[in-house]
Amino acid sequence: MTGSQTTALLSVRDVSLQYNTANSVVTAVSQLSFEVHTSDRFVLLGPSGCGKSTLLKAVAGFIEPTAGKITLAGKPVCAPGPERAMVFQEFDQLLPWKTVTGNIMFPLVATGMATAAARERAALYIEKVGLSRFANSYPHTLSGGMKQRVAIARAMAMEPGILLMDEPFAALDALTRDRMQEELLRLCADTDSTVLFVTHSIAEAIRIGTRILLLSPHPGRAKAELNCDGIDTADASGEHLSQRIRRLLFGNLVEEDTADD
Ligand SMILES: Nc1ncnc2c1ncn2[C@@H]1O[C@H](COP(=O)(O)OP(=O)(O)OP(=O)(O)O)[C@@H](O)[C@H]1O
Ligand SMILES: [Mg+2]
Repeated sequence: MTGSQTTALLSVRDVSLQYNTANSVVTAVSQLSFEVHTSDRFVLLGPSGCGKSTLLKAVAGFIEPTAGKITLAGKPVCAPGPERAMVFQEFDQLLPWKTVTGNIMFPLVATGMATAAARERAALYIEKVGLSRFANSYPHTLSGGMKQRVAIARAMAMEPGILLMDEPFAALDALTRDRMQEELLRLCADTDSTVLFVTHSIAEAIRIGTRILLLSPHPGRAKAELNCDGIDTADASGEHLSQRIRRLLFGNLVEEDTADD
């Protein structure tokens, strides 16, 4: 569902992002525009270094665009806020001294929720990600996949307007990654979440996304925006889209290259 007839939830308009280093200015993203609508699973797909994480950090409000404008529900984004929850790639994004429940409660309580209500909300989302047996476990006792589930539960428990996910499954083994993708789709359907999802895997983009924005190599620029709602990775429509994305990203160089991580 793209909701193109409705007002965008997230609007990124002519956004450029730069880093000032000691010797130079690095342009990470150049004049990028796109819109995310409620219930979209909008995927940013591009090669390493094209500015995907930088862009997500700007949407989260951690860094400010050098040019252009980012608005959420019509309001300019200028600082982090609980309506944008982020899941990172790294397994160490959990607080090691807090249990699974404690990790999920932490941002809820920090943003003003009463402890009892936060505990109840945490239990609900722990159940949604299938970790009820581990509610009182500490992060160091969990596998990578379980830690990512906790991070997803923590972000979703905020019930944010938009969930920002930066390659959340990239460090997982292929089987766990496959299962987590399936689980995320189920959770999104269950909670009607809006997601901005970053990946450099074509297969993952097609599986997760309702829309995909292809980004050029460094600095990231929009190459094409594709609708992939309802396209099944397992059948001919998925294969056709995958080939099309390869051609758009790499030209004719990859006609014989079917590798995708
Ligand atoms: N703190 C920083 N200071 C200077 N340059 C940076 C900084 N962070 C990122 N960059 C540069 O900005 C560009 C985009 O980086 P970014 O991490 O956003 O890419 P990415 O698309 O997320 O890559 P990957 O897929 O490898 O995670 C790169 O050239 C990178 O070197
Ligand atoms: Mg990145």
